[in-house]
Parts: sequence; C-alpha cells; structure tokens
Amino acid sequence: MTISNTCSALRYVRSAVRDMAPYVPGEQINDALKLNTNECAWPASPAVNRALYGASEDSSTDNLRLYPDPSASTLRQSAADLYGCSADQIIAGNGSDDCLTIIYRTFLEADGSCEVACPWPTYGLYDTLASIQGIRINHYDYAQRNNTWELPAALGQHNATLTLVANPNNPSGTHTPLLELRRLADQVEGILIVDEAYADFVSNDAERSLISVLDQHPNLIVLRTFSKSYSLAGARLGLLFAHPALVAEMNKVKDSYNVNALTQAVGTAALTDITYHAQLLSNTLAARKQLEIHLAALGWTWPQSEANFLLCTVGEQAHFIYEQLKERGILVRWWDTDLLRNCLRITVGTPENNTRLLAAIEDILS
Ligand SMILES: Cc1ncc(COP(=O)(O)O)c(C=O)c1O
Repeated sequence: MTISNTCSALRYVRSAVRDMAPYVPGEQINDALKLNTNECAWPASPAVNRALYGASEDSSTDNLRLYPDPSASTLRQSAADLYGCSADQIIAGNGSDDCLTIIYRTFLEADGSCEVACPWPTYGLYDTLASIQGIRINHYDYAQRNNTWELPAALGQHNATLTLVANPNNPSGTHTPLLELRRLADQVEGILIVDEAYADFVSNDAERSLISVLDQHPNLIVLRTFSKSYSLAGARLGLLFAHPALVAEMNKVKDSYNVNALTQAVGTAALTDITYHAQLLSNTLAARKQLEIHLAALGWTWPQSEANFLLCTVGEQAHFIYEQLKERGILVRWWDTDLLRNCLRITVGTPENNTRLLAAIEDILS
C-alpha cells in the first residue's frame, strides 16, 4: 500500500498545533557518549534492579496483569516520609514533564485570558506546552551578573497565570536563592512553579528545596524528577508537590494510570536507598570539579553550576566543536539561538567519560 504525502484530514488539526514547532529532545545516537541530556552518569541503585525484577516476576502480586495503583500511594508515602510533607500534597507523574502537562491543563483557560511567564533561557518544554494550548508565553531575560544568572525583576510584575522557574536553571545550571523565590511567590498573582529537577545537586542543603515551606505559600507548586540525581530517566517518574486542595483539583486532570507499576516499584526503591543516592551525588560533584579544572585550562568559562552540567561559553567555534564531537561519537548540546549560539551545554560524565571528552576537545582544537 502506498500512502499519499498529502492528507485532506489535516485541516481538522487544531491551528495552535499546526502552527507550533515541536519540542526537540536531545539527540540519541546508538553507542554515542551522551553528555547532552543531563542524565546521571552512573547506574541506579541496586535496590532498583531488585524492585524491578521483583515487580515483574512475582506472579502472586499480579503486578503486570492488573492496572497499577492510580494514585501511586506507596511511592507517594515514601516521598512524603523523605521530604517531611504529607502524601496528599503529592502527585506522581510519568516524568516531571507529565506533571507540567497536568499543571497546564488544570490552570490555563483556552479563551486567551491566560499567560505564562518564565525567565529566559530556560527549559524549552515550558514553551511547547503553552503552544499546544494556544497560550502566550512571555520570556524575561535572566540578568547575567557575577558569574551567575539572576532572576529578572520584571518576571513577577505581569500577573501571569503560571510563572515557571527552574532552580537550578537549565541550561545555565545557576541557582536562585530560595528567599527570592519565596518573595516571587508572594508577588505573583497566579501560580509559581519551581522546577527542582536538579535541586539534589545543590551544594548547600539549606538552599535545595521549597518543599518544606509549601504550607506558607498556597500558590506554590514544586516539581521533582527521578531522571537526574536518581539515574532513572528511562523509567519516567516525576513528583509534584502543592497544597492538598490544589492537588485534589490536579488529580482530576491527570491520566488515571499515568505511572506504570514497574516505575512505581523502582521509584519507591530508589527513594529508600538514601546511602546510594548520596553516593551518586558525591560522584557527580567530584566529576564536575574534575571537568571544571580541565575546561578552565582551555580558557572556557561558565556560570557557577549547581547542577550536573556546565553551560560553557566557547565562542564562535561552538557549533564546529559540537559537530566535531558528534563525529567522534560524543553528544553535547548546542542551540542555534542568539543567546546560546556560542555555548555548549555539557553533562558531567564519569571520570572516564570526561577524560574521553577532554581528549576529543584537545584533538579538535589542535
Ligand atoms: C528543568 C527540567 N525540568 C524537567 C525536565 C524533565 O524531567 P523528566 O525527565 O522528569 O520529565 C528536565 C529535563 O531535562 C529539565 O531540565
């Protein structure tokens, strides 16, 4: 059967969807060294493997024959215990991207009355989700000062329905002091979402998370992911923390079985292996330090990173180096945009990964 290139039914696709650019995830090339999507460089806890095989093999629990627990209660209770909050403040999602989708669907009217705001540049999916719903998103450029990126003052002054801040930010790795975010929560008219995808890598634990102050900010939503510090990007698991009343509304919007049974099991296991998690964090921070020493010797600079990646200012050769690294089987992230064209975002790898990366860069520059 041959399929025609044109499709007369395309006219039924919503214009907001037809007109939007798709989100472009980081490239995946077989066998390449992936330093382009900020995954953890080490494997997940052995407890995760045990939970995975237990959940898939134990026929007495009927784990795969039956639908999963729609509210992921065991996982949520483990998270509540770890973060010192209550399980009714938590929703589990199919990655934190799913949590973001739930938020957008819950709060944004499609009648043109809502706006979304975020500092820029940041995680591109915030834009894509707004486009899907035909909602305008306003960008406010970060102020780049003293080796860090500061929140733009204008961010909280426009009464957006949703204001999103990634903390630490992607792609800069920079951290916004929690007090500033709390002030922003008080200032905005709508909901403030603080995306803490990389928060576990923040060196000062008092500056890591807003989860403990949620009860003082009823308009605050905090997001967490297992894709980075727990090394579970392939399992797709994220958590949303908010006031129980908001959680109850958002629960109406989520897919009933949005987190599958295997992921619920591995997520619970990962959360409870605190020692292994601490090891993943210290491995990453040590490898980041090693990478920083060598990249500094090349004359490259980056804002101070509190995450598992560095946004290196490389100069006009950035795209060339990105292409050359790809030819050598190493993927890093490059964007063809005014603010980032001279930069490469490099995920921290194992010491061996970093050595390979640095040798390739030296070869390219020689
Ligand atoms: C700031 C930020 N939030 C969310 C995500 C996606 O997380 P998840 O894999 O849980 O969907 C990413 C992934 O790169 C990210 O950088």
